Amino acid sequence: MRTFPSSQNFTAPRSPTPLDHPTPTRLGQPSAWFFKRLFKGLFWAAAAWGAGPLNAQVPAPQRFANDMAERTRACTACHGEQGRAGPDGYYPRLAGKPAGYLHNQLRNFAQGRRHYDLMARLVDPLSDAYLGEMAQYFAHLQLPYPTPTASNAITPERLAKGQQLVTQGDATRGLPACTQCHGVRLTGVQPNVPGLLGLPLDYLNAQLGAWQTAQRRAHAPDCMAEIVQRMPAQDLIAVSSWLARQPLPTDTRPADRAPAGPALPEALRCGSAPELSARAAKPPNGGKP
Ligand code: HEC
Ligand code: HEC
Repeated sequence: MRTFPSSQNFTAPRSPTPLDHPTPTRLGQPSAWFFKRLFKGLFWAAAAWGAGPLNAQVPAPQRFANDMAERTRACTACHGEQGRAGPDGYYPRLAGKPAGYLHNQLRNFAQGRRHYDLMARLVDPLSDAYLGEMAQYFAHLQLPYPTPTASNAITPERLAKGQQLVTQGDATRGLPACTQCHGVRLTGVQPNVPGLLGLPLDYLNAQLGAWQTAQRRAHAPDCMAEIVQRMPAQDLIAVSSWLARQPLPTDTRPADRAPAGPALPEALRCGSAPELSARAAKPPNGGKP
């Protein structure tokens, strides 16, 4: 099992290149390995497009799953078998993430709010309905998560600070707990908020850094952009280092709804998850399940 490179310094995100990710098993020819996978991916993408759009009639769930497993081979060439994440800690997991969140991300890549050319080229020509179907397919795959492996150097005090920010936030700078939106188990909230556990440290750092530099954006208003602006780099590292060390809870599925809590301030409305504010705006007992 490969460990992720340590991230002691908070670095600006960058797109991976073939040479960034030589696999330990094929150290002699990393780029040949990469291109082989890429061409395999493109081949399957062509095959998938050739197969045309899905029938108008709703296919049986099993048939839909089989069809989609075939059609998404271009994706799993990078994202790992069944979208369980690539082997190198960079290509993110897709399996089990909320469908609305995945769909929003596919739109973000297609519409230039997130950047990764090789993938954007694949999703660009696909219809929004088809992006939604792929999102549904990956969202329904429940696969076990790997054991967390983050081992970057960080003091116990900084880790404790990370835990505190994640679970309690910091009222002095108007920072809600991450759990308020990402769920008390941090496994995400249906349908639009992703979980924060089971993600490699490098991926977490890259995403938070990308929001700080506006390389990653969500539908406006972009609450995550606002949140990272309220956190200095050392707090972001504390938070990502703590998150990347946590094992998954027994129930890894996203929560059905966000936890009850104080209403979100107007400045932290999330365009990609408007339901978070709609709930919070209800009277305290009105939001009860
Ligand atoms: C060439 C490799 C590659 C291919 C092929 C590819 N992706 Fe990706 N994908 C990536 C990388 C790298 C990222 C993360 C980019 C970043 O840092 O923001 C990503 C991110 C994503 C995300 C966002 C995940 C998250 O948790 O935010 C989704 C959803 C996604 N890809 C779906 C797909 C689907 C569906 C396909 C097939 C149509 C596909 N990808 C094909 C490399 C690829
Ligand atoms: C006000 C609600 C809210 C709060 C509070 C919040 N988030 Fe988020 N977060 C979101 C939403 C909504 C998304 C999905 C954005 C999108 O659609 O791209 C998100 C996405 C993310 C992602 C991307 C995950 C992925 O798979 O790519 C990370 C990382 C993240 N948040 C970290 C945090 C951390 C760390 C905190 C606490 C310091 C936090 N968030 C607090 C609403 C929130």
